Amino acid sequence: MQVETKATTPIDGQKPGTSGLRKKTRVFMEPGYLENFVQSVFDAIGGGAGKTFVIGGDGRFFNAAAIQTILKMAAANGAAGAVVGRGGILSTPAASHLIRLNKTDGGFILSASHNPGGIDEDFGLKFNAENGGPAPEALTDRMFAATQSMTRYFTCEAPDIDLGTTGETTLGDMKVTVVDPVTDYQSLMETLFDFDAIRALFASGFTMRFDAMHAVTGPYATAILENTLGAPKGTVVNGTPLEDFGKGHPDPNPIWAKELMDLMMGENAPDLGAASDGDGDRNMIVGRGAYVTPSDSLAILAANATHAPAYKGGLAGIARSMPTSAAADRVAAALGIKAYETPTGWKFFGNLLDAGRVTICGEESAGTGSDHVREKDGLWAVLLWLNILAARKASVAEILTDHWATHGRDYYSRHDFEGIETAKAEALISALRAALPSLAGQTFGDLTVARADEFSYDDPVDGSVSRNQGVRIYFDGGARAVFRLSGTGTTGATLRLYLEQYAAPDADHSQDPQEALAPVITAAQTLCQMDNFIGRSTPDVIT
Ligand code: G6P
Ligand code: ZN
Repeated sequence: MQVETKATTPIDGQKPGTSGLRKKTRVFMEPGYLENFVQSVFDAIGGGAGKTFVIGGDGRFFNAAAIQTILKMAAANGAAGAVVGRGGILSTPAASHLIRLNKTDGGFILSASHNPGGIDEDFGLKFNAENGGPAPEALTDRMFAATQSMTRYFTCEAPDIDLGTTGETTLGDMKVTVVDPVTDYQSLMETLFDFDAIRALFASGFTMRFDAMHAVTGPYATAILENTLGAPKGTVVNGTPLEDFGKGHPDPNPIWAKELMDLMMGENAPDLGAASDGDGDRNMIVGRGAYVTPSDSLAILAANATHAPAYKGGLAGIARSMPTSAAADRVAAALGIKAYETPTGWKFFGNLLDAGRVTICGEESAGTGSDHVREKDGLWAVLLWLNILAARKASVAEILTDHWATHGRDYYSRHDFEGIETAKAEALISALRAALPSLAGQTFGDLTVARADEFSYDDPVDGSVSRNQGVRIYFDGGARAVFRLSGTGTTGATLRLYLEQYAAPDADHSQDPQEALAPVITAAQTLCQMDNFIGRSTPDVIT
């Protein structure tokens, strides 16, 4: 194999965000764009010589071509091996598992998660470290620095690798192993959950719809739910991964999974509705007539985890991202275990999981997972719910109302204001930051501020500090508003306003969340002078 050294120059803006580098697909397809970024990864990890990597993605447009590029660059950088999903397909949690199972030096995951796919939509690439988790900030900082001084990348002339069949082949001196994307992941799930109990649940007539949203979880859900657990054929819908996700927006929330929501709120609703996103790490859970917010789902899974064999011995601790509701903290307090609050982004859970401090983690953005991998895991959450439903012999709605009656309800909603001019969004946050010292004691609408700060995270494991992670306003009476700018968008800025209001165990839990949250919505919008800064007060998306 002849290694080719290609001269290149730095490309602006290759800074990994909340979850890797995300750009318009056409940007990734520009000459050298993907190559520069991939080379920055090899440079940031001290070169590729002798190392092995997992490579796979969610199947969106440009997935297959990008994998061929990465394979050639890995070989040229001296890598010893690559483990690739057949057809270039690997869900994010499955890739995380393969990194750990094969003890590789990391992995390249090609995905823009829940963002639409296609030549005019989004593409993304992230590097996960040898623990299977997203590269920590110290590593992404090194990658970004490398992109800023990039002068050359290494590749080689070689025919494309046939990714269509499993087996071993070579690319120069590098061994390439094409694996079935589902097999190892399914084996892992079988060690975690009581498959017999779930099988019996389906055999007793339990009904479910799983919407794979034309994205990567289709093959996983079909193999596990239908072919192994005995759910009737047709339980999984939109189960074939498509390059453009059927022109849909593969984000499992009530807006983008509207068809599933309509079914679940209608007369012919099955017992359980679930969906996952583009790369299979997010989940949505909805019972008959009962939507479960991600924050509540995390709390309920944590409170009931001991029903599943893997968590029978109890949990070490629970972690949630800062904007996620406090519901999980209440469960941790009741269980007498520690609750951790981290910045948005799964990468911040990695150290806590590695150190054995927490067993279950979750985020308001529809992510839940555990120490079985180092990514959030959509199908894992669905299987844990199924395991709990099988063990408790109760409906989703009953489990939800019972949970609130025990721990109280944290009414919760997120309002997104999309496509804002970046400068305006930043001005709003700067003004909030400047106002922080004087907010306590001031009243906005009907609510008085108890305390306010900007979230900064001190990682208790490695001592690293992450600043400017969102502005938190706590009001008297158990309400909270959080402001932060999204780190996953590809155009302009998205302002996220996270709202919550606690209702004690004996309070009314039957209100519509938007009504229950009306006072905190008014207070938050007034306090940040939303209309002045961004010229609007109606969110584009409410979840
Ligand atoms: C991705 C990350 C999550 C994060 C979410 C929202 O899914 O993996 O960890 O919570 O994006 O991030 P954002 O910065 O857009 O709010
Ligand atoms: Zn995702």
